[in-house]
Amino acid sequence: LGNGLGGTPQMGWNSWNFFACDINEKVIKETADALISTGLAKLGYNYVNIDDCWSELQRDSKGQLVADSKAFPSGIKSLADYVHSKGLKLGIYSDAGAFTCQVRPGSIFHESDDAKLFASWGVDYLKYDNCFNLGIEPEKRYPPMRDALNATGRTIFYSLCEWGVHDPALWAGKVGNSWRTTDDINDSWASMTTIADLNDKWAAYAGPGGWNDPDMLEVGNGGMTYEEYRAHFSIWALMKAPLLIGCDVRNMTAETFEIISNEEVIAVNQDSLGVQGRKVYAYGPDNCYQVWAGPLSGQRLAVVIWNRSSKTSTITAKWATLGLESSTKVSIRDLWKHEYVSENKVASFGARVKGHSCEMYIFSPSTVTRSVS
Ligand code: DGJ
Repeated sequence: LGNGLGGTPQMGWNSWNFFACDINEKVIKETADALISTGLAKLGYNYVNIDDCWSELQRDSKGQLVADSKAFPSGIKSLADYVHSKGLKLGIYSDAGAFTCQVRPGSIFHESDDAKLFASWGVDYLKYDNCFNLGIEPEKRYPPMRDALNATGRTIFYSLCEWGVHDPALWAGKVGNSWRTTDDINDSWASMTTIADLNDKWAAYAGPGGWNDPDMLEVGNGGMTYEEYRAHFSIWALMKAPLLIGCDVRNMTAETFEIISNEEVIAVNQDSLGVQGRKVYAYGPDNCYQVWAGPLSGQRLAVVIWNRSSKTSTITAKWATLGLESSTKVSIRDLWKHEYVSENKVASFGARVKGHSCEMYIFSPSTVTRSVS
């Protein structure tokens, strides 16, 4: 792809999960303001992404896309200027088909014009959807927009939203900075856990420059409990998923803020090694006691112990399942308690985890001493 972006998974906010089509320039500006005033921007949430429904139902007489004149009377350029003045970046949305999912004009066969227009507005990010795709396979429909974006000379993050059609992990690394591995998430435990498992399958294909996208965060939208949202955020961070907040950040509860602002969990997501953590072990009824883990820079491991059952249970992570010798001494930091909970631990670590909750740790093995023969 070669645009130099996506060295770590993208972070920011997107309008769809909470607002759907009920968007306007006031909401976008106030969201940018809230990202700054809450401190979320400083933690890395720097893309402010407008999803579907920003445009008029038809192109103008010159064939150009135009912003909806009621919702965005000042136009997208002025919105981009505002967002940039706050030190943030603006994302926009279109579709690799004849229409967007909400039946606004799509960009297929208009890639060059639309990419130029987005660049002229100062857009920094494009989410590119998959509706009304004329039955053409995504491998053919997504590269033209990559080329068009690259040809503008502006650096624009390219987020493929092809819903996992045709196993994008196998071909999208050369096309986009991230690609959706699944259908849309909804704000429920069932949807979130199903999507986590589907996205897990493609772990080997993610890395700096191109990430698996299990869809945007639902944290704070009301359909899950605090524990469930904490698990959602922990697993998305571990899976090196894009961290795109999907709630109304102007009106967050303290619990929502606590979850999405956890710097230690964010640091796992943004770790320079860029290896997607995976489900390494599952046992118990319906395999509901789970250990997810992945390597971090500095020989460390990120570990999530996830209780998918509804009852509090003790779940054990054995060194063997983490790729460690059982005699390796490990210091263990709890990323939700923000403290070291064990030093020089060997062989295994058990955690008592509430139903539908998880605990998240960094395991730092003591330096391995090799025997000289
Ligand atoms: C389908 C996408 O997967 C969603 O994320 C959202 O962009 C909607 N389309 C908008 O219509």
